[in-house]
Amino acid sequence: MCITFIDLSIFTIKIELQTSYTTMSANKYDFGLVGLGVMGRNFILNVADNGFTAYGLDLSEDQVNALKEEGGNTEKVDATTSKEAFIANLSTPRKIMLLVPAGKPVDAVIESLLPHLDEGDLIIDGGNSYYIDTDRREAYLNEKGIHFLGVGVSGGAKGARKGPSIMPGGSEPSYKYIKPIFDAVSAKAHDGKPCVAYLGPKSAGNYVKMVHNGIEYGMMQLTSEIYDLLRKSAKFTNDELHEIFAKWNEGRLQSFLVQITSEIFKQNDELTDGRLVDFILDKAKQKGTGKWTSQNAMDLGIPVPTIDIAVSMREISALKDERVKADELYGRPEVEAIEKAKLIELAEQSLYFAFIISYSQGLHQLSDASKEYGYNLDLGLISQIWRAGCIIRAGLLEDITQAFNADKDLPNLLLAPTFVDRVQAAVPAVREVVAFAAKNGIPVPGLSNSLTYFDAYTSSKLPLNLIQAQRDHFGSHTYERIDREGIFHTEWGA
Ligand code: 6PG
Repeated sequence: MCITFIDLSIFTIKIELQTSYTTMSANKYDFGLVGLGVMGRNFILNVADNGFTAYGLDLSEDQVNALKEEGGNTEKVDATTSKEAFIANLSTPRKIMLLVPAGKPVDAVIESLLPHLDEGDLIIDGGNSYYIDTDRREAYLNEKGIHFLGVGVSGGAKGARKGPSIMPGGSEPSYKYIKPIFDAVSAKAHDGKPCVAYLGPKSAGNYVKMVHNGIEYGMMQLTSEIYDLLRKSAKFTNDELHEIFAKWNEGRLQSFLVQITSEIFKQNDELTDGRLVDFILDKAKQKGTGKWTSQNAMDLGIPVPTIDIAVSMREISALKDERVKADELYGRPEVEAIEKAKLIELAEQSLYFAFIISYSQGLHQLSDASKEYGYNLDLGLISQIWRAGCIIRAGLLEDITQAFNADKDLPNLLLAPTFVDRVQAAVPAVREVVAFAAKNGIPVPGLSNSLTYFDAYTSSKLPLNLIQAQRDHFGSHTYERIDREGIFHTEWGA
């Protein structure tokens, strides 16, 4: 009896301890977020809407108050300017997401949190961080017993609130802590599947998000070129452009970018009687992800010329004063009139073709990076989680997902049997548009680069034999032959 009594009392104490811990835990918040700008506030409210309690940290009292107000002052979501209060109010292991500008701010926040964290806590960087920084941070934090995930989040402020596409990378066991929250808050595709999935180790998440943005740059550049062509050659009005893009968005070009483009043409300017788009300065800014995509594609030796030119065009756009001077010096041809219905048809085919090329190039880069960096990426899965929530979401991604699911080792979308006929069918229109634009002095470098990429990638014979001959001629760099094995050198002209 006595022994039973003692046992029971220990059991009771354990139960009490367990209960008090559970009670304490229940009062604490499931999820912490640092950086309560619009993205951060929207993300944390999304978490709170989905059955989790969330606590925010920001140095600005205004941001903290904004969150409390937007959250309706409920118990599900709260925030503080005090790091200590933030840490003390999170249930352990703590799950802390950072939505702060990429670069030094991420390191600064990590350093400021570190002394207060316990082993086993998880830090998630949800910004557009450079993938090499992510690898460094993961190694650094793992040494200290802290889990770390580099996670791409796409969809802008609205996506963060209603459901973004989330691209997590890092160690899989670390991901398990946050999976239920990410599954709940992510966008859902039309089949109900969440637009989030563990993508791979180390910086896989940030790398995939970087290339997502490269594709985004390509698609935005292409859309702007088609707009230019439509307005300059057939003089479509903003109302007509709105209609054209809205109609396209109901067909095979259905995508977030085509949809918002149609909305943009409708937006009245509050400061004048015109449409806002006509008053926006034609200098595009950039934060770096497109440039990193191009730079890294060069390092890998994977051609992504549609993305490259999209970055270059933002750079050319920035040279506004020089462009204005050069325009005066050189002028440009009078643009020929073209039948409106015909142009709409050619433009639709061209945009469809070039969107496919943008995805092809980005996914080709991912396929190669996966091997190079050991990410072990599943391109079908990546295309699947891009179907909703993110900036490059599009109906096309349904077929792209299927193409990569059918062939996991497909190096390039252009080699997928389901894409051959549709690409072939669009090519004549693209040739016509590029030729028309060249003749009329309308710059369409995204479109022409996409076409040239296509023509080169689908050429079994390129003139690079001549380059090899030149290299060997002036530098004894050697060459290979088509008719026999081996490395050759010739004393040219001898
Ligand atoms: C997204 C966007 C987002 C951001 C871009 C803007 O997926 O939600 O890509 O991350 O708007 O990075 O980039 P730029 O300023 O370089 O155009």
